[in-house]
Amino acid sequence: MNADLFERAKEVMPGGVNSPVRSFRSVGGTPYFVHTAEGPYVWDVEGKRYIDYVLSYGPCMLGHANPQIVDAVSVAAGHGTSYGAPTEREVLMAEEMCARVPGLEMLRLVSSGTEAAMSALRLARGATGRDNVIKFAGNYHGHSDNLLAAGGSGVANQGLSGCDGVPDGAVANTIVAPYNIVPELDETVAVVAVEPVAANMGVVPPAPGFLQGLREACDKVGAMLLFDEVITGFRLGRGGASEWFGVKPDVWCFGKVIGGGLPVGAYGASKEIMSSIAPLGGVYQGGTLSGNPLATAAGLAMLEQLTDAAYAKLEATAIRLATGLETVFAEAGVDVIVPRVGSLLGIFFTDTAPTNFDEASVAADNGKYTTFFHGMLERGVALAPGPYEAIFVSTVHTDEVIDATIAAAAEVAALMA
Ligand SMILES: Cc1ncc(COP(=O)(O)O)c(C=O)c1O
Repeated sequence: MNADLFERAKEVMPGGVNSPVRSFRSVGGTPYFVHTAEGPYVWDVEGKRYIDYVLSYGPCMLGHANPQIVDAVSVAAGHGTSYGAPTEREVLMAEEMCARVPGLEMLRLVSSGTEAAMSALRLARGATGRDNVIKFAGNYHGHSDNLLAAGGSGVANQGLSGCDGVPDGAVANTIVAPYNIVPELDETVAVVAVEPVAANMGVVPPAPGFLQGLREACDKVGAMLLFDEVITGFRLGRGGASEWFGVKPDVWCFGKVIGGGLPVGAYGASKEIMSSIAPLGGVYQGGTLSGNPLATAAGLAMLEQLTDAAYAKLEATAIRLATGLETVFAEAGVDVIVPRVGSLLGIFFTDTAPTNFDEASVAADNGKYTTFFHGMLERGVALAPGPYEAIFVSTVHTDEVIDATIAAAAEVAALMA
């Protein structure tokens, strides 16, 4: 039973979980413990089925247990699970990623988005010889000390203003700015790190001109622009957010999407910038499991299936869901905003689309998401257990699955009215 497992889990893991938002702390109640998953569904240990919009917070874009990914990982596992020596699949993976993202010439595979963002930051500092970092309130770049300040996602969901254990010195060079306003930069700034579509304070799209404005502001003072594409990369389209918005950063970081559910991340840039990385240059970064043979097998199987047709399907699915949610809440007279960029969407129970963290927090913390979340969960629809996350769809969320979701939302909307 979920409740029994949760009690046992709490004895041996903080909050009973291995990542805070899974604990249901911000919505209350007992988490469902997943037993298995296939296509758009997960089943918990009690045998209850849920239509899943968590999708591992992004990577399962082809649904759960995608047969090609499962086969690729199984075959790869039979050849050994880690070597500590280079493999052909790492080369194929890097070639494929560089071919898809205009301007990306060289990259390093790592094992998580946190590691990717942390390494990209070190690269930018090493390559510019400067220390200061600008990040935006409500953007989340993983849990490394330098970048945790004013973080979205789990940090916001737990209501944390900062993080114990991060010494002041670690954030002395981190300057937090409001999202969607181009900050004033000077020549001490090494890098401006941004989620090109904010997806960890709910979904907040960039205002027209914001990303272009950042590009110009960075160019003026010789700072680097870092796009954290852990969510948007290979999701918004083949070339991610930089292609979608037509703004080229100096450095990218990517994450979970390129692993199809296996632990992976990557950071990259032009050949010139990447030549700062050891063994070519003086910026050290390494990893025993980097470019892991199972992760690259899954990643290649994933990217192979992310065709133009797959992106068209993902976006059509997101539009169907967004339109359906807007309609049922409008009919019930409940204010709702469903921000959407391509296949990435979110939900706020408010009447005005938030443009920054302060506005997103007011909308997220009004308690309505909790009612929505539990109403949907009871009806067999799993959403992220916190209002600061996105709603993720996959290529196997069929029209029928979306319509069942909208029917459940109509019932919940009537309750919320
Ligand atoms: C934009 C962004 N950057 C970085 C991360 C950190 O990735 P990971 O959880 O794989 O360390 C996340 C995680 O959700 C993210 O959304």
